[in-house]
Amino acid sequence: MKLSFKEIALDGLKDIEGAVVVPVAGDGSLSGASEAADTLLNGAIRRAIDTSRFHAKHGDTLEYPVPAGTQASRIVIVGMGLEKLTPTTARKLGGRIGSALGRLDESGATVFADALGSPAMIAELSAGIKMRRYAFNKYKTQTEGPTDRGPGNVVVAASDVSGAEKAFINTNALAEGTAFTRDLVSEPANVLYPSSFAERLLDLGELGVEVEVLNEDKLEELGMGSLLAVGLGSERESHVVVMKWLGADDKSAAPFCAVGKGVTFDTGGISIKPAGGMEEMTMDMGGAGVVSGLMKTVAMRKAKANVIGVVGLVENMPDGKATRPGDIVTAMSGKTIEIINTDAEGRLVLADVLYYAQREFKPRATINLATLTGAIIIALGNSRAGFFSNNDALSDQITAAAKEEDEGIWRMPLGKDYDDLIKSSLADIKNTGGRAAGSATAAQFLQRFVDDSPWAHIDIAGVTLSKEAKALYPKGASGWGVATLNRLVRDQFEN
Ligand code: BES
Ligand code: MN
Ligand code: ZN
Repeated sequence: MKLSFKEIALDGLKDIEGAVVVPVAGDGSLSGASEAADTLLNGAIRRAIDTSRFHAKHGDTLEYPVPAGTQASRIVIVGMGLEKLTPTTARKLGGRIGSALGRLDESGATVFADALGSPAMIAELSAGIKMRRYAFNKYKTQTEGPTDRGPGNVVVAASDVSGAEKAFINTNALAEGTAFTRDLVSEPANVLYPSSFAERLLDLGELGVEVEVLNEDKLEELGMGSLLAVGLGSERESHVVVMKWLGADDKSAAPFCAVGKGVTFDTGGISIKPAGGMEEMTMDMGGAGVVSGLMKTVAMRKAKANVIGVVGLVENMPDGKATRPGDIVTAMSGKTIEIINTDAEGRLVLADVLYYAQREFKPRATINLATLTGAIIIALGNSRAGFFSNNDALSDQITAAAKEEDEGIWRMPLGKDYDDLIKSSLADIKNTGGRAAGSATAAQFLQRFVDDSPWAHIDIAGVTLSKEAKALYPKGASGWGVATLNRLVRDQFEN
């Protein structure tokens, strides 16, 4: 889907082909495009409001098919609600429009947006349309199914076209970055494996991101015995990919570092998972997906910040060469790990990638994202990610950013009580702590490999895939976290 901005005089409304979208103020007053549409429709909008058939609440829609006296295939009225729009509610309004439009034919849709007020709000609305209309149809040879959005493009009619286009650079960066994450998460594991994932990340070079792919020889040289242990059973080579966006005035200023778990498929390894639902484990690279989407977003909007993304890409398979339960490996930090359960592999990957990122880049703050534990879904369900942090200020910033972006999150505890559960009798640490507090013991494991600088671990196992469509995404890969991290970069790390 393409989205563009255009100035369209209101008396030209009747000549527009395809779907026409007209926002209506929450108080039911009609002006500008809504007044023009009402005139064309012989006062039908006015009547719908006066007879309480349409309340103009935020996201309420009313559709007039093939309106007489116009070229339009339909006019869609959308309520703006009474509360003053914020960037996030404007984006969600766009999401509502995006879903209300459904399948579009070649004539596309035109959305009259001046009622939104400012170019910034129009840009948010536009990004919302784009985000909600995201679809992963790559492997559908038959189109016109319920998820097919059709060939139609969207024109956003605005009087200040250049203002809207300028503001859209930022919001479109988020829409594109989020779509990148969703594409990566949606890909099956026979297509997206460590090397092919790394190759897709090399494409970010076009946006000015410096991308470096470390191969297994290099990882061995670095001593990443923990990460490498996870990939031993796989035919696919493991990789770590470093993505640098140095946008701050001072390119040597300490960066913000985002680290991602990128298990392109998690069978559990020798501690193999049950067959039911195992196909979902193509999403076990969701953390790396969010980091990749964040890098795309900050690069596309040329963020004035130094942001470094590091992802650990491995495939967890059972095999004659695979790691066994009971094996002891040495991580890059020098610590030894007793692997009790080969299905607790994400923490083994992150142990080395986190250590490497902090040693190499001395970040101001490090946040890792990972589909780390089923236990976080037991604790928080699918509406909130859980996060753990060694720093209250960073925690408050994460909570605030997620709140602004309306992405659910909840802080969870770290503590010696949980750390005690991962003591090993043979090595420095073991990789599971039993059923109790499964997400906290996983977080505690990660903390053994980070220093005292501000760090947070976000467990996104419950929010990476959605069973249902929401305001800004269809069913499937949500892209959860790109918006929050992008906001965090903007509010805390830009100069
Ligand atoms: N990738 C899984 C966690 C997961 C579960 C992600 C459900 C998304 C949805 C992770 O590698 C895993 O297998 N964790 C185990 C840990 C256990 C063996 C200590 C789990 O949660 O059961
Ligand atoms: Mn696992
Ligand atoms: Zn996993």
